[in-house]
Amino acid sequence: MVSSFDNLAQAAFASSEAIFSINSPSSHPSRAIDRLSDKYTISNTSPAVTTLQANADPFQKIQESAATKKELTSVLATSDSLLAAIPHLFKTASQRSAVVVHVETKERDSDSSTTQHINGTAAPTKSTGGHNGVPSYADLMAVRQTGFAVLTSDNAQAAFDLALVAQAAAVQTSTPFLNAVNSAAAGASDKKIVLDHQRVAPALISEQDLIAHRERQSAVSEISLSSLYLKPQEGQPAADSAAPAAASAEEVYNKVEELLDVLQKQTGRSYRPIEYQGPANAKTVFVSLAIGSSSLDHALKAHHAKDVGLVKIHLYRPWSERHFLQALPTSVERVIVFEQSPAAHTAWTPLFLDVSASFHASADDKAAWAGKVPKILSARFRGSGAEVTDADVKAALTSEHAKPTFVINPHFVAQSVSSASSLQESDVDTPYIQMLNQVFQDRLNIENGLKTDSVWGSAQQSPEFGYGSLVTKVSARARFAELVSKTVQDSNLKIAEPLRKALTQWHLNRSDSKLAKRHGDEVIALLQEAKDSLVGSLAEISAQSSQFAKPSHWLIGADAWAFDIANSGVHHVISSNADINLLILDTEPYTARTQNPENRKKDIGLYAMNYGSVFVASVAVYSSYSQVLHALIEADQYQGPSVVLAYLPRPDEENVSPITVLKETKLAVDTGYWPLYRWNPALEEKGEEAFRLDSERIKLDLQQFLERENHLSLIIQQNPDVARTLTHSIESEAKARDVALKKKAKDDFAKLMGGLGGPPLLILFGSDGSNAEGLAKRLVKGAKLRNLSARYSAMDDVSIEDLTLEKHVIFVVSTAGQGEFPVNAREFWKALSAATELGVSETKFSVFGLGDSHYWPREEDAIFYNRPSKELNAKLIELGAQPLTDLGLGNDQDADAFETAWAVWEPLLWTSLGCKPLEGVVEEPKKSADDAMKIDSNYLRGTIAEGLLDDTTGQLRAEADTKLTKFHGIYQQDDRDLREERKKQGLEKAFSFMVRVRVPGGVATPAQWLAMDSISDVTANGTLKLTTRQAFQFHGILKRNLKKNIQLINKSLLDTIAACGDVNRNIMCNPNPHQSDLHKQVNDFATDLSAHLLPKTSAYREIWLDQKLVKGEAVVDHEPLYGPTYLPRKFKIVVAVPPSNDVDVYAHDLGYIAITNKDGSLAGFNVTVGGGMGMTHGNKKTYPRVADLIGFVTTEQAIETGEKVMLVQRDFGDRMNRKHARMKYTIDDRGIEWFKTELQSRLPFQIQEARPFKFLDNADRYGWTQGQDKMWHYCCYIENGRVKDTPAEPHKTGLREIAKIHNGEFRLTPNQHLIIANVKASEKAHIQSLLEQYKLDKLNYTGAMLNSMACVAFPTCSLAMAESERYLPSLVQLLESTIEEVGLRDDAITIRMTGCPNGCARPYVAEIAFVGKAFGAYNVYLGGGHHGQRLNKLYKESLTEPEIVAELKPMIRRYAAERLDGEHFGDFVIRVGIIKATLSGKTFHDLS
Ligand SMILES: Cc1cc2nc3c(=O)[nH]c(=O)nc-3n(C[C@H](O)[C@H](O)[C@H](O)COP(=O)(O)O)c2cc1C
Ligand code: SF4
Repeated sequence: MVSSFDNLAQAAFASSEAIFSINSPSSHPSRAIDRLSDKYTISNTSPAVTTLQANADPFQKIQESAATKKELTSVLATSDSLLAAIPHLFKTASQRSAVVVHVETKERDSDSSTTQHINGTAAPTKSTGGHNGVPSYADLMAVRQTGFAVLTSDNAQAAFDLALVAQAAAVQTSTPFLNAVNSAAAGASDKKIVLDHQRVAPALISEQDLIAHRERQSAVSEISLSSLYLKPQEGQPAADSAAPAAASAEEVYNKVEELLDVLQKQTGRSYRPIEYQGPANAKTVFVSLAIGSSSLDHALKAHHAKDVGLVKIHLYRPWSERHFLQALPTSVERVIVFEQSPAAHTAWTPLFLDVSASFHASADDKAAWAGKVPKILSARFRGSGAEVTDADVKAALTSEHAKPTFVINPHFVAQSVSSASSLQESDVDTPYIQMLNQVFQDRLNIENGLKTDSVWGSAQQSPEFGYGSLVTKVSARARFAELVSKTVQDSNLKIAEPLRKALTQWHLNRSDSKLAKRHGDEVIALLQEAKDSLVGSLAEISAQSSQFAKPSHWLIGADAWAFDIANSGVHHVISSNADINLLILDTEPYTARTQNPENRKKDIGLYAMNYGSVFVASVAVYSSYSQVLHALIEADQYQGPSVVLAYLPRPDEENVSPITVLKETKLAVDTGYWPLYRWNPALEEKGEEAFRLDSERIKLDLQQFLERENHLSLIIQQNPDVARTLTHSIESEAKARDVALKKKAKDDFAKLMGGLGGPPLLILFGSDGSNAEGLAKRLVKGAKLRNLSARYSAMDDVSIEDLTLEKHVIFVVSTAGQGEFPVNAREFWKALSAATELGVSETKFSVFGLGDSHYWPREEDAIFYNRPSKELNAKLIELGAQPLTDLGLGNDQDADAFETAWAVWEPLLWTSLGCKPLEGVVEEPKKSADDAMKIDSNYLRGTIAEGLLDDTTGQLRAEADTKLTKFHGIYQQDDRDLREERKKQGLEKAFSFMVRVRVPGGVATPAQWLAMDSISDVTANGTLKLTTRQAFQFHGILKRNLKKNIQLINKSLLDTIAACGDVNRNIMCNPNPHQSDLHKQVNDFATDLSAHLLPKTSAYREIWLDQKLVKGEAVVDHEPLYGPTYLPRKFKIVVAVPPSNDVDVYAHDLGYIAITNKDGSLAGFNVTVGGGMGMTHGNKKTYPRVADLIGFVTTEQAIETGEKVMLVQRDFGDRMNRKHARMKYTIDDRGIEWFKTELQSRLPFQIQEARPFKFLDNADRYGWTQGQDKMWHYCCYIENGRVKDTPAEPHKTGLREIAKIHNGEFRLTPNQHLIIANVKASEKAHIQSLLEQYKLDKLNYTGAMLNSMACVAFPTCSLAMAESERYLPSLVQLLESTIEEVGLRDDAITIRMTGCPNGCARPYVAEIAFVGKAFGAYNVYLGGGHHGQRLNKLYKESLTEPEIVAELKPMIRRYAAERLDGEHFGDFVIRVGIIKATLSGKTFHDLS
């Protein structure tokens, strides 16, 4: 049999001294050599033939052999071995070896997505592969920058001829060649091929050529910057000037041309390096590599297009712009670059870039094109195995007006170069570029602008462009350094000693940006002084003084680079060893990730790491700003190439919201799809760990993994599959753990079953909150009481087939979203609803549903009421299961909510199971479960300490512990953005903790601020939340960091005791910057009261601070105020200073309103009681309430009054029903008069009549104010209290810088903003400059924005039904245009939003409030009092964003037109009848 390699083997044999054939399972070029009958060779001896295996890194051996033996070497290989060969090809080129690689382009089947190995690292081939058997030239393109010259041919004869030319050119220019042929063209079966090598070879290569080559090669030491053809124009130094000059692009081009002439003379067969065929006046010219041109050539001929020509490129590298342009007829108006490239993700293919750049790059030839540069289109042939057809050509020719990216027909994708800017409009780069600018400022040099309006944007964006010019800059500075070095050593030159010293210092430190600047400045100053007497090299140095500063060089690569190791500029940067930084952006969203991604994004990182001398980082700005910052700084400092892989998902939506980008990033980082890490080889040299994993959550898993496997770089070398297994191993570990847990659960269950009799029950629940789950648990208890064995689980934790094995299955399922199944029941329902048959005829079942008949109040939405339970019930009946009872329907609207229907359904269930009514057993013990839990906890200990030690799970051990930790200021949460994905992956929820720091009065010192700032980085998610109650909050703390977090907080002299829980919480106080003395008195009072009401248990210090009681010293804890059951519910106190009601005194259980004496000193306080915000949607028994004013007490009496108010609530509050346990209900149930009497009876003094006061509003005052004592205070606007860094607004860094120099205080405001308080006049300017620098001085928001406030909600708050903090700013922005239009820009309207009706941002006293109802749907409330004195009322339910905007915009217009003088929005909507005023909490729900 004859193989396609036979002709090539013949040419190779005739003209080389050594032949290597690379065999793979699918290709055996060695057999072609064995088959040769004609053993002619130009030298006297036959070449040595070596067979290598494709999977054994063959090119390394070839490179070594060529370097040492200096023989004219031929290689026979298929193109799929090229990618792995890249590093060796670079080296081969730099050694100027005369190696010719004859490659047959290999077809790739994209579906098989094979993986091969680069240097031991898994490398993707999918993106470079062909499409269903179409030969793709991507492999060829991938090696185009290695310094190899590239020849291509389109038929078998040309393949043979060019093989001989390649051998000759290689030896005569000492340049390696690649001779690429496609399999059809290389075929030997074509009888017409003339194999006249015996005549041609000696004419092309002489003995002298070989000798001269060997001499040249011997002179070569390694060329450090090895890429020869990156920027092939004349005058551009292609490599380090110290290295012996390699053949220039022009020399190689000319040599090939000359050899082709020789060939023509010998054979009559004519080829040009760049060949034009077609009419001299063609208007349209196709450009194609010769190798892919034959079917296009046929199709063009068939099309008979008169003014169409074709440029066939035989010599692709070096690319000669000049010759390319010369080949084109100047009549051309349109150039269509034709490429066989199925992968559409690469915006501009290499050939397209070469062609585009040619028109402008060459100054001499530009003239011919001036003013009429043709339009350049890219046509990509991506048919499956088909030939280019006449129709394709027609379509390509008529594509003139087509859109930037379009499919001409199934075979073509075309793209116009003028689309460059439009395609780049996505601002993917913005945050990272902003950060680069911030960090490196003047030193920043981004070589390839991503954004450009010029049509040449495409070329400037290409790695080649940037890299080439960077190399030039780097060498220029190196030459400058050389000049400096020679100058200081030149003893003949008279240089003043200080200047010589400064120059020497600069030379020594030129790689260190800071020192280079310092010494450079010194030199410049000295040169300046001596400027008139400078001569020789000193004058030269002076003229180039811009070279002193060390630039931070960056190349920015977009998606195509991230996808494609081969086609990106990564190799060049890495192998150059130059001090160049590469930032590669990846915008593929996690949820849209390719089905079988083979971890290829990470492969780039691993690939780069494998070089050992490259800094590599993987970052995501939406996940960790500070990690990006560190990575950029380290990359810059690293003296060598750096690759920073940067994630910024761009979901394919029209209006991408930041929330979506954030969520995509989180998913990617959390699942390990995009791990955050840094690899800094410089650290290794210092004996430190080079690899740092910055992804907090996967850290532990990976650390264990790495420990086991030793060291990352080691494993990569030893185990090439690590790239793929990296995440898989994490996942499988987690899964294995999960399986183990499940098995344990099964075993436990089996034991349980053994111990119990009666029919076993399977109780399945679907629940988003906890209602349905709670009922399921109750059923389990009920079953046990009846001696039935029962187990329960979420519906999704069983498969529908399990039903066939069960005798009795009980479902409790609530309704989520709009008539949807809860998240933990969706998979189950999906399977069940699709089932047509299921063997459940023996299965008996019953369903209890939970819903709210008024959740979606419109009549047509009645179908959503309890829909899941109804559907489930019907489906089970349809499948033949037997109902035990009728469907039970719990309704939030019933008197006792779902309990009403439960009370009917549950007894029916037990009866249907044959259970008699229980005798003498109290089924649900009528004692408060929470109180029992508190008593059992031993003063808030529970099993918290034990739970912290369990590292097999991210959560606490027991449900009770999650309640108890609240008393310690800690909430266990899980990231709801990640819930579904983690569930899919079989992982436990992404648990983390929120920690709230008690800051009485909201006053912290700069040292405390710095501590909070650093704690957030070290133990939490890097941001700080200033809460609506003047506390600091840390989010995203993993269990293993929790103790450390609390300890660090305590070290800063703050704590978290009683920041949450059923106790008195943080006491708020007006931050009052105006009256300094008064603030001090009021704040001291708040601090004292806070200390007075603190729980006294030692559990906190014991658990968190390891302050164990001395052994044997059995101290029994004691709570003098609270007792062992603490309060029925949380208790909140505030202190207001009129005229500001910023603390919202009416929204709290207990309020103090400061009353001053005539001299302005504090006289005492008016006292308010019974305010509170929380309620439950649809439950009219719950409502917000504004507090009652009950009288005045003096300053001395105030603490005792507070204590006694709290004790009345302790003794009379409802301990049975937590939804009815706040003091507002105690007061409403018994009457305010009863409350006053009860309170008075506990006080040794008489409460006096309330004194007059006046509130104006409940907002903050922004900007600078001066206090009575002449100190200055600046109130910054912190959007929703979230202190974080963004590239545009690095607030967190700014506040840190301020804290470092500030001598006053930081005061947290009740509206989540921040006052930099007590600034001396002399320090004001400095603070102001920092405020400006870090964009903290921005106050030009509308009054509405400044007066808006939102709670945290998603992703951490488990109660959230809708977004809040992440969403409110964008909603307010939508209203702002109208607000500004009607002239209300500076009018304050209080707007508040919460993600659920709990009311953390005090929505019910706002003029406009949005309270989350479901994802994307809000209840809108109107008419709250402007200074928080009146509740608002429900205006409309469940409005979506467009509905909200449509409702509110006309209302705002009307307010502007019709308001009375000084009338506030909340009053206006009531006066004109839009809403009824709410006069008491009890009437909050009355709508008419
Ligand atoms: C976001 C959200 C959406 C809801 N949608 C519906 C609905 O469409 N139909 C309905 O009958 N009840 C609806 N409800 C009411 C709940 O089903 C009901 O409050 C139930 O008791 C919640 O139980 P769970 O805590 O077990 O999830 C919804 C509740 C919430 C919080
Ligand atoms: S109001 Fe609701 S959603 Fe918002 S933080 Fe409070 S509990 Fe969570």
